Amino acid sequence: MPLAWDPQYAIGDAALDAQHREIILRLRWLGDAIGGEEPERAGTALHELAELVKSHFADEERWMAKRGYPHLARHAESHGACLESLALAVRLHAEAGMSERFVEVIERVARWLDVHLRSEDLRLGRHRPE
Ligand SMILES: [Fe+2]
Ligand SMILES: [Fe+2]
Repeated sequence: MPLAWDPQYAIGDAALDAQHREIILRLRWLGDAIGGEEPERAGTALHELAELVKSHFADEERWMAKRGYPHLARHAESHGACLESLALAVRLHAEAGMSERFVEVIERVARWLDVHLRSEDLRLGRHRPE
């Protein structure tokens, strides 16, 4: 499940790429904690991941707004869906630790991030303001 940074994720903006790397790193820590059956470490990694993702999405949305990116609304909506899944994971972890449902939600978030980085985020890098 955990992702590794891959140059094909690079969108060409140093700040956003650094944030993507951090997100992938935290996701790996979370995956390691789940694999090692360490609920407390998983909780810490999850909280860090959720905070990081939230501030990254806000930065990325500001980046798009500044450049008049035409797909901002759809992209931001898609971010919203990921934040909902992360909030659900935080709730599930608080209620029952590393339940099966919690792991399922984390797996969904990891797949979502992988696809999002390779598709919607890569489109940002190709955008040239008119
Ligand atoms: Fe994005
Ligand atoms: Fe992103």
